[in-house]
Amino acid sequence: MPLEPEVPDVPELPELPLVPEEPDEPELPDVPELPELPEEPLVPEEPDVPDEPLEPVVQNHLEEFVRYLKWILIARNEFNRFKIANPETLTDIQWAVRFYCLLKMAYNSKIPNQFFRVSKKRQQSLNLLRIEEDLSAVHRRLARVYIENMHYADLIRRFDGPETFFYVAPPYYGLEDYYGKDIFHREDFGILRDLLTTINGKFIMSINDTPEIRELFKGFNVSTAATNYKSIGKIKRVSELLITNYEPAASTRTCGLF
Ligand SMILES: C[S@@+](CC[C@H](N)C(=O)[O-])C[C@H]1O[C@@H](n2cnc3c(N)ncnc32)[C@H](O)[C@@H]1O
Repeated sequence: MPLEPEVPDVPELPELPLVPEEPDEPELPDVPELPELPEEPLVPEEPDVPDEPLEPVVQNHLEEFVRYLKWILIARNEFNRFKIANPETLTDIQWAVRFYCLLKMAYNSKIPNQFFRVSKKRQQSLNLLRIEEDLSAVHRRLARVYIENMHYADLIRRFDGPETFFYVAPPYYGLEDYYGKDIFHREDFGILRDLLTTINGKFIMSINDTPEIRELFKGFNVSTAATNYKSIGKIKRVSELLITNYEPAASTRTCGLF
């Protein structure tokens, strides 16, 4: 067995020069207790995922935004080029242009699962000669509007009151993922129903006509309205449910819900 090498004596460390002792902590005078702040109701802790910067770009760089759009072609290849572009590699203006073009060129102007819309009958909705006018019309419509971005349950609790009127337009039953994954689940219809049972305000909800929704909301006034579902090249007449917590005035008028 090999012998363990002898460890040399470690010389004692010299004493450190005297460090002045820390003075005792001075006694702090009693701090008067702060009055409790009123609880801010349901403010989200974290802002959501950063939005595409369309609004700030339109506000701050309108000329440049329009200039980018000036020579864009409404073409499937252009659409696909926008689709695969990674926003992280784009400037804010390019990112806003990408978002705007995809939205305008996509079927149903939806965000997830966008695909290029073409029609034998309709013109393209992105009118490159009227960008500023179109944006300005939206801007005028929203001039006196608050825009929120929060979970429906928080929003309903936050804004409920005897004078409040809610128009509730959840995703369709059976198409809960249509607006993105995991933001609305089938169980949310029950949660929404329970919440709407407790509110002080009034609501009207539009939703597709299914036995499950009729069963869930049978405690409210349920009526139907004729509307059209548009799919590529076809128009289908359907009946939608209108659900209210008040007696609606009788009307057989056909409504355009969206
Ligand atoms: C049928 S659309 C309503 C369309 C709207 N009425 C309009 O005219 O544009 C359903 C909307 O619910 C939103 N949504 C889905 N899940 C939500 C949730 N958990 N909280 C709040 N909104 C939600 C979707 O993003 C979508 O905009």
